[in-house]
Amino acid sequence: MGLYADYIFPVCCDTMMSAPDLERIRKYALENVAGEILEIGFGTGLNLPHYPAGVEKITAVEVSEGMNRKSLKRIEESGIEVDCKILDGKELPMANESFDCIVSTWTLCSIKEIDSAMNEIYRVLRPGGRLVFVEHGLSNERRVQRWQNFFNPFQKVFAVGCHLNRNMRAIIEKPGFSFENIREFYMENVPKPLGYTYQGLAVK
Ligand SMILES: C[S@@+](CC[C@H](N)C(=O)[O-])C[C@H]1O[C@@H](n2cnc3c(N)ncnc32)[C@H](O)[C@@H]1O
Repeated sequence: MGLYADYIFPVCCDTMMSAPDLERIRKYALENVAGEILEIGFGTGLNLPHYPAGVEKITAVEVSEGMNRKSLKRIEESGIEVDCKILDGKELPMANESFDCIVSTWTLCSIKEIDSAMNEIYRVLRPGGRLVFVEHGLSNERRVQRWQNFFNPFQKVFAVGCHLNRNMRAIIEKPGFSFENIREFYMENVPKPLGYTYQGLAVK
């Protein structure tokens, strides 16, 4: 990875993803996670303060060493044991059905080989297990979709592989997940092409 992706982007991403509106969504999304937990695209560890009190250990996957470096202090402060594996989510080393719950927050937009990663997420989750997700992606409005398609090539460069126009419903359903609940909304105070959000629970 280059200087931008490894050093500059992790600082920018950490700052942007620490916004209070996002913190509220993280807290709400993680409220009921339990059991063996895998967090995919762990980033700088911003979800850690929002795991429920009973969570003592999680496994995490993160492809970027720069993001991982910035998570270390947060891991230490959290009191949660984090087994963080630096690897690409397209190929997970975990056995089938290893986890009760998989957490993905603002990550599926960035994974390059998204179909392979979703198949792996599905594989390592136990039957009946849940994918807890908060993702930005393709709007349901044609006018906004046009802007998303227009800005997508720039976003991929500036936000290190992030896509604005992924249909998260379709991506999550493809390996076989069913939605227990899903809501779609625009984040407040965020431009519509970036702020269209999918949040919910999908069951294997
Ligand atoms: C926008 S950040 C979100 C980070 C974190 N989930 C959060 O909520 O703050 C997207 C994260 O996904 C990670 N990522 C991108 N592609 C990945 C891949 N193929 N495998 C694992 N992590 C990946 C990025 O390095 C980055 O840390």
